Amino acid sequence: MTELEKLREECLGCERCELCRTRTNVVFGVGPETARIMFIGEGPGENEDLQGVPFVGRGGKLLDDMLELINLDRTKVYIANMVKCRPPKNRDPLPTEQAACEHWLSRQIELINPRIIVCLGRIAAMRFIKPDFKITREHGQWFEKDGRRVMALYHPAALLRDPRKRPETFDDLKRIQAAAAKL
Ligand code: URA
Repeated sequence: MTELEKLREECLGCERCELCRTRTNVVFGVGPETARIMFIGEGPGENEDLQGVPFVGRGGKLLDDMLELINLDRTKVYIANMVKCRPPKNRDPLPTEQAACEHWLSRQIELINPRIIVCLGRIAAMRFIKPDFKITREHGQWFEKDGRRVMALYHPAALLRDPRKRPETFDDLKRIQAAAAKL
């Protein structure tokens, strides 16, 4: 068993916060352990909770389409969330829940050691780029964190709500593609 598989096993039994009482499945993350690019969302929704896999609902379909635009797919990137269990009724994860869950994602990043991290939405960007991150102004910009390149995109759910944001996101994706080509 690899270290990441061991971590997953441990995470599946996690009771570090109250979300363990209402979850159906822990949504640990998917993708190759050797992925050079990691996408990080906020937390599982209903479909993800039911299937135990991140981004499998409508937003997930859009994420797959976004990856395809730049010649990527789920066999090539790692996809995870900041919190591994669904908050009831899809409310935002509480700061205490985020703090309790941080251990898992930090270890995932250490073990996978991606060269590029793509934050999906403002919440992940506030954690990985800076606390006052402004998604409307700063999406698509590269930041350097712990020797990795980090960028935030609009969250797929935001792109479903407001398709006018899609052309900008296409440009951002192209910048990811260009960076990925140099890896
Ligand atoms: N939204 C997220 O942030 N993550 C998922 O896994 C699904 C929807």
